[in-house]
Amino acid sequence: MERTRAPSEIENPGIQLPGSIGPTVDLPPIPLKVEKASTLWGGIRLLLRDPRNGVKRIARFLRPMRKDYRRRFQMTLRDWLLYHQRQVGFTECRWMGVRAWKNPLDAWIYQEILFEVKPDVVVEIGSGEGGSTLFLAHLLDLLGKGQVLSIDIDRSFFHLTHPRITILTGDSSSPEMVAKVHELCRGKIVLVVQDGNHTKEGVLKDLRSYSDLVSLHSYFIVEDGIIDLYVPRDGIGSFDEGPLVGVTEFLKENPQFEVDRKKERYLMTYNPMGYLRRVC
Ligand SMILES: C[S@@+](CC[C@H](N)C(=O)[O-])C[C@H]1O[C@@H](n2cnc3c(N)ncnc32)[C@H](O)[C@@H]1O
Repeated sequence: MERTRAPSEIENPGIQLPGSIGPTVDLPPIPLKVEKASTLWGGIRLLLRDPRNGVKRIARFLRPMRKDYRRRFQMTLRDWLLYHQRQVGFTECRWMGVRAWKNPLDAWIYQEILFEVKPDVVVEIGSGEGGSTLFLAHLLDLLGKGQVLSIDIDRSFFHLTHPRITILTGDSSSPEMVAKVHELCRGKIVLVVQDGNHTKEGVLKDLRSYSDLVSLHSYFIVEDGIIDLYVPRDGIGSFDEGPLVGVTEFLKENPQFEVDRKKERYLMTYNPMGYLRRVC
């Protein structure tokens, strides 16, 4: 017999790209079952068995949410992402004092992935001020092995040195850079992070140039597909197609990679469809 859906059962409909910026992608939904921990009816039943605790439970149940946290509690996922991008992500987010343009929940997923893969080399395309680069180097310190190859076209804000970080300055899409990185990664377990040129073309170029480096069961992480889910009036979205559309096109031409949707399970990610796992 078919089970009736409880009102508390919510399903995420999957990621829909607005028609204006590229094809719609049908991804399997992330099922979310939110169980109610306690009900008023449970309190009433308890009242009959144990009046003192029953009264306490009912009072707790009926107590309104604290005013000072209510608004925050009622924010939608979109509200949170906009707040984080506008007011926190670019200015207030640091790793060990160095600015990192990362969503901390994505950073936690990075930690899980690095632990799973234990790469010899993490290629980071786009390091900015270096907070993310240092974060990767520190994770490799904890794992006791590995190097970060940091590629960036502009080093004016990057002032870091760390024994696990190798600095390569230049355009990630130049044939010289592609050749150099391939040489440094030969025979190694490799993971690639693309956080450089965020246009669809830039992302596609980097995917095509560096995806062959990614080891089996390792990842090509494409950052910031979230910009394709915003609209320009959000102050963050772009009129041009970005990483999500680049990934969608790449996946059509490359069956060696699959989107690992489990890595989006914390929901607050900057990287929708951005955790690409090499499967063959
Ligand atoms: C979003 S920031 C990187 C943020 C950093 N990964 C973090 O999480 O803190 C993007 C960086 O990509 C670099 N970049 C943009 N296009 C590039 C290209 N074609 N080749 C190399 N670096 C590029 C920019 O100079 C900038 O430093």
